Amino acid sequence: TTGMRVYFSEGSRVVQDVSLYFGGMGPTTVSADKTCKTIVGRPWDDQTLGRAYDVLLEELVLPPSAPGGKTDFRRSLTLSLFFKFNLGVLQKLREMNVIRDELPETFLPLPSNLQPSLQEFQHVSKDQSNQDAVGRPMMHRSAISHATGEAVYCDDVPKTDGELFLVLVTSSRAHAEITALDVSEALTLPGVVDVITAKDVPGKKARSMFGYEEELLAVKEVSCVGQMVCAVLADTKVHAKRGAAAVKITYKDLPDPVFTIEDAIEKSSYFEPQRRIEKGNVTEAFKSVDQVYEGAIRIGGQEHFYMETQSMLVVPVGEETEFNVYVSTQWPTLIQEAIAETLDIQSSRVTCHVKRLGGAFGGKVIKTSILASITSVAAWKTNRAVRCVLERGEDMLITGGRHPVLGKYKVGFMTDGRIVAADFHYYANAGCFVDESVLISEKILLHLDNAYDIPNLRGFSVACRTNLPSNTAFRGFGVPQGVLVVENMINDVAMALGRPADQIREINMYTGPSVTHYKFEFSPDNLQCCWEECKLKSEYGIRREAVDQFNQQNRWKKRGISIIPIKYGIAFAEGYLNQAAALVHIYKDGSVLVSHGGTEMGQGIHTKMQQVASRELHIPTTKIYISETSTNTVPNTCPSAASFGTDANGMAVKNACEILYQRLEPIRLKNPKGSWESWVKEAFFEKISLSSTGFYRGHDLYMDWDKMKGQPYSYFTFGVCCSEVELDCLTGDYRTVRTDIVVDIGRSLNPSVDIGQIEGAFTQGLGLYTLEELKYSPTGLLYTRGPSQYKIPAVCDMPLQFNVYLLSDSNNPHAIYSSKGIGEPTLFLGSSIFFAIKDAVAAARSDSGLMGPFTFDSPATPERACLACSSPFIQKIPASQPGSFTAWALDI
Ligand code: MTE
Repeated sequence: TTGMRVYFSEGSRVVQDVSLYFGGMGPTTVSADKTCKTIVGRPWDDQTLGRAYDVLLEELVLPPSAPGGKTDFRRSLTLSLFFKFNLGVLQKLREMNVIRDELPETFLPLPSNLQPSLQEFQHVSKDQSNQDAVGRPMMHRSAISHATGEAVYCDDVPKTDGELFLVLVTSSRAHAEITALDVSEALTLPGVVDVITAKDVPGKKARSMFGYEEELLAVKEVSCVGQMVCAVLADTKVHAKRGAAAVKITYKDLPDPVFTIEDAIEKSSYFEPQRRIEKGNVTEAFKSVDQVYEGAIRIGGQEHFYMETQSMLVVPVGEETEFNVYVSTQWPTLIQEAIAETLDIQSSRVTCHVKRLGGAFGGKVIKTSILASITSVAAWKTNRAVRCVLERGEDMLITGGRHPVLGKYKVGFMTDGRIVAADFHYYANAGCFVDESVLISEKILLHLDNAYDIPNLRGFSVACRTNLPSNTAFRGFGVPQGVLVVENMINDVAMALGRPADQIREINMYTGPSVTHYKFEFSPDNLQCCWEECKLKSEYGIRREAVDQFNQQNRWKKRGISIIPIKYGIAFAEGYLNQAAALVHIYKDGSVLVSHGGTEMGQGIHTKMQQVASRELHIPTTKIYISETSTNTVPNTCPSAASFGTDANGMAVKNACEILYQRLEPIRLKNPKGSWESWVKEAFFEKISLSSTGFYRGHDLYMDWDKMKGQPYSYFTFGVCCSEVELDCLTGDYRTVRTDIVVDIGRSLNPSVDIGQIEGAFTQGLGLYTLEELKYSPTGLLYTRGPSQYKIPAVCDMPLQFNVYLLSDSNNPHAIYSSKGIGEPTLFLGSSIFFAIKDAVAAARSDSGLMGPFTFDSPATPERACLACSSPFIQKIPASQPGSFTAWALDI
């Protein structure tokens, strides 16, 4: 931040007084006194200011280890902000006729004329009968209670008698042996009831995945800062926190912790299996291409930042080791099984209840099962209800997030823009436990082609084992990272050839009947339709020209535009997960209670299930209620994940309702003019069952990695997004001027919920690619543990004009009522902003004489964008010593 002012005597350009203040250059605001002294008494001209820049640079220094990091960026900002001030002053002096020197037009500061505009909502399906709820833009059934705060979440469940609160004690070392654990002081503190350690676990003390074990509570060794070691139980949260602070853990550090992907590669620290896939013959193909380019891009991790942190309440029923568990999870069955295994009891003794989740985004599956297992041990041991609700900082520290990825590539292409061969290497930072990392690295390879038919395509992908908190599933499951590498490669080809990137995309895009690199046949027709429609709706052609013209006319502000496609596979490659069940009861008053295996996390699954039941039972949605998801109504469920929850559960609810409607048929035929309520009553008197289960057996999907062949998806959801940004090259600050998205989601079940999903996923994507940065200390401690250090998108980050269109006339024979899964695919479209920023940066660089491909990592924060512009001010900053950045924070 800065505040600057200058005084001139009437009609003169000689400076009488000047003040230059900067924030962010020390513990408090600093005044650049020396610089001011060099200016006072001199004319405001190039000579004076030239000297002032040099003095300013010397006067305001930051050691590389300064708190907050980004020291090169902050130093360059002092110069560029002063330069911006200079431009304003010169303009004023000119207006006052004090000076007449001509400033180049391109240097003039721009008046900001960017205004937000709202899109009209115009999405009602054709062929809509009056009564049919399916296809209608119905509001999310809890929208109002979410907004008013009346919606009940896990931690809103009233406190029960004798309830205890659990607070976790976590490791402060990244890689160490635990030599002693002393809980004696904690136990003496007021309110503290007990401390739970691994010794208290009656059943399985670790979870196994892919042959690796993850201990619930560490016993001998810790492998990251934030690993759970024990848990303090007290009558209140405050007491439990005090108790946790009094637990003493003694460590003996173990050598060589691994934090970065580079460290892991050097030490071959990987989780097995590593995956490879190849189509054609890549090595041979490289011999026949016109040009070869090699590049790399890093994508940072991402925090889930669900509004409701991890929350659970385990209540012993009081007899026969039975438990009721209220938990915020995407997979109630997993929690049920994890608790049963941990307590060494049968699953039938554990009932999990999930009313709703305050967001999950993939983060409330595996990590929640570990937390719930620990909480259940506490409830079992004390025979009292135990609540565990993480604070934001704890949640961010303990539960991990999206995998940071390093993607390297070599691409061979022809001068006409055709890509003939591409070879990718992906390294994902998995953290200290395997979790779902192997599946994520597989999914990265499955999306290696994105929208392009590259005849010779090869990929290698591996999950790196490091001493950071273990990462887990996150909306997109590796695809947002993997595909960014692919699209960056396309951009590099375009830059190497000096052509617009959209042309290279178009030349290489799938057309006609197509086959993926894992030999899966599909039609890309709707991808092409989305591409064409997005170009049309966004007026891409004329805006591309306008952007180029703007860039010629402006030196310090640049615009950038990009258009990016996504082809996203829906359903689970693990075939057995593609199933769902439902239970529907009709009560005698005609009201209907639907239960199904999906969990409501904001994506609107319950609203859509009401719509399905309404269509099948021919009654309004107001007669249909969904209370919760629970393991005693619908057992053996699959996770609400892979954007497949609505597809699968929708079919199960449909099945149950069809059965019930069929049962009512004789009664309806007897009394066709009767009301729904009269038929239901009559059915009861006729002793017809008014309750039914429903089931859906999904596709038998698979992926055979040895044969590099499979059918891992039911179908693809396609989308295309065009974004334009305006970048201030002096500060890196940017605004998204406009975004247009066209998505093929078949025949939407509920356009308003689906558009909400598209907007939400896009926004989470723009956070990933342009804002959100996790920073760790050199000892592996996560610094960014709250919204003040970790920037998630805010209102000001939204595109000023934001248009979402659903592709019309699309059908999908593979999912309920011809719809398509939409929860995850459009997150990747947030990268259109990343590529628009990169486009603007390229324009700035060309003004500095820098042409061709350049390395630009994600997120494209103002710091990165500003430094990449390589303005004269950036060039003035002496490059910081190698490793100086890591002195403050690790670049994971
Ligand atoms: N939308 C909201 N509001 N909150 C969430 O946590 N999770 C996303 C997406 N949309 C999420 C969300 C993820 S990770 C998935 S897989 C899908 O919703 C699940 O939606 P489905 O039940 O329709 O498959």
